Amino acid sequence: MGGVAGLAPPVDVAELAKLAGEFFSALPGGAATTAAPQGVSNGLPLGLSHLGGPSQLATPPQPPEPVLALGGRGPSLAPVAQTQNGLPDKLAQSAPAGGSRGGHAQGVPEGYAASLPSIGTPAPAHLPSNPPSDPPASAPSSPYYFLGESSAHSASAPDVAVPVEDRVTARSFGLPGEDDLRVLLGGAPTAPTSAVAGAPAHAKEPELKKDQWFYFTDLTRGHQNAEHGRAPASQAGARPPFDVNAVRRDFPILQERVNGKQLVWFDNAATTHKPQAVIDRIAYFYAHENSNIHRAAHELAARATDAYEAARDKVRRFIGAGSSEEIIFVRGTTEAINLVAKTWGAQNVGEGDEIVVSHLEHHANIVPWQQLAAAKGAKLRVIPVDDSGQILLDEARKLITDKVKIVSVTQVSNALGTVTPVKEIVAMAHSVGAKALVDGAQSVSHMRVNVQDIDADFFVFSGHKIFGPTGIGVVYGKRDILEHMPPWQGGGNMIADVTFERTVYQPPPNRFEAGTGNIADAVGLGAALDYVERIGIENIGRYEHDLLAYATQGLLTIPGIRLIGTAQDKASVASFVLKGYTTEEVGKALNREGIAVRTGHHCAQPILRRFGVETTVRPSLAFYNTCEEVDRMVAVVSQLATARR
Ligand code: ALA
Repeated sequence: MGGVAGLAPPVDVAELAKLAGEFFSALPGGAATTAAPQGVSNGLPLGLSHLGGPSQLATPPQPPEPVLALGGRGPSLAPVAQTQNGLPDKLAQSAPAGGSRGGHAQGVPEGYAASLPSIGTPAPAHLPSNPPSDPPASAPSSPYYFLGESSAHSASAPDVAVPVEDRVTARSFGLPGEDDLRVLLGGAPTAPTSAVAGAPAHAKEPELKKDQWFYFTDLTRGHQNAEHGRAPASQAGARPPFDVNAVRRDFPILQERVNGKQLVWFDNAATTHKPQAVIDRIAYFYAHENSNIHRAAHELAARATDAYEAARDKVRRFIGAGSSEEIIFVRGTTEAINLVAKTWGAQNVGEGDEIVVSHLEHHANIVPWQQLAAAKGAKLRVIPVDDSGQILLDEARKLITDKVKIVSVTQVSNALGTVTPVKEIVAMAHSVGAKALVDGAQSVSHMRVNVQDIDADFFVFSGHKIFGPTGIGVVYGKRDILEHMPPWQGGGNMIADVTFERTVYQPPPNRFEAGTGNIADAVGLGAALDYVERIGIENIGRYEHDLLAYATQGLLTIPGIRLIGTAQDKASVASFVLKGYTTEEVGKALNREGIAVRTGHHCAQPILRRFGVETTVRPSLAFYNTCEEVDRMVAVVSQLATARR
């Protein structure tokens, strides 16, 4: 590689110099702006001719080689441009940017998460690991610049010393375990495996009486434990490092006061809060890297492009995708599903075909498919759920016939919290030749997701529900599917070449990212995923699961409470209604005490109606919530219940 990252070997330095000369002379003020680049004999833009692109090409790839490599990406869609005029965008995109000088690294305090071991968590043994050819995390393969670095930004060294006694590790929380939740929800304890895919099995908890279920509610107890340095040996092995009080210090908004009380944020299914690391990363972007991407030869464009592409690679790693080219940035889950419905769906669903969703779906996973079905004369079929809110797999099997073109299901219900058996459903879809989309909006922040293990054709999620910014989300699509999908929106960034007669599109993912995207927030999402990985998604899932059991137990002690959604596999959500009260009244009473929950239909009216209600009160938990907060909520709801008995 001659030390020049991004070039296909062998590098012909003379040829490269010639190309660079042509490029720079073609810049505004340069000599030639209309001459066809030399060496392009098939009419394709320079840099595309060797890529083994569209099968429609009349002429095979032409010498000379090498030219600037695009990481194996090639436009795959007709129409093929026959342009000979002007410089194609790609040439500018591929131009050297002068190497990574980067900005000066600024240590950004990240508190607890930064004190944890770095990311790079290996996939659990039963999940496929990423191919060994994947680029290392620090050097994402960027077809745009020769920087080889994700960013000059460094968040590695906290400049705030965290007292040792605050870094409590391996301590039992004394919370109920998974079996306790199952028993609470009317089921039998299971074999000791975790509901969190890929997580180590829980150690069997000793049976706990209610009054023993107190997680430390003040720092004193935590400090006492910490003074001893670690938890009792028998518990240290059972509980990996996690300290909720230290975690909470990473989230500044948790110190807010609402109605004179410290905020309790139980609206995590609507959106999550952002750790300081994410806030700082976005600020750093605007202070040191801000530029449009992919389009210029200047330093800030290089920094911004590298940061954006590094974020894409972090997403790939986080969800276990095989390639960052399978990761498309969009606005959020809603836009993600619309993209698939309006591109893949429009291309592949026709009259008489069927689309299958489940009864649990968020409106975002219903309406786009309804629109598609109406436009195409297709039918929407719905997999029913049982009285606990779990998908009936036998019914799914009956519905998923060879008429079905796509099955689109949520992995975790936003209204009920049900964790669905997506792997089985994806397999059913594939068994009839259908594709499968998994809506991960409510799952990625609670459990390890590996898209290759699930074998989803599409997997979608939103950044803001996993401690990242709003306005950024992800479509994962299998590469061979994305390559055959038409673009959605047209404009800049998604094209390889444009004339008035025809356009050559970029390959995925750029084909689906028309216009200037949400660059800063993609970078912020990358920081959020780094943060989550430093805490450990398995640790998060386990703690939240135990906290959900604690909350469920607390709510069930209140007369007149009805839980909506009692599936044995649940995450985060404890939806309920209270006899004698509207859900809005309950929400307002909680708000008076500084406790934020969502009340309403949660954009999932069909599943609430399945349970005979129009609205619920929906506390939804995250790993920064505590038992003390649950106690505060239970106390308010108990008082309401007592008042109208
Ligand atoms: N989908 C989000 C929720 O469930 C907005 O609240």
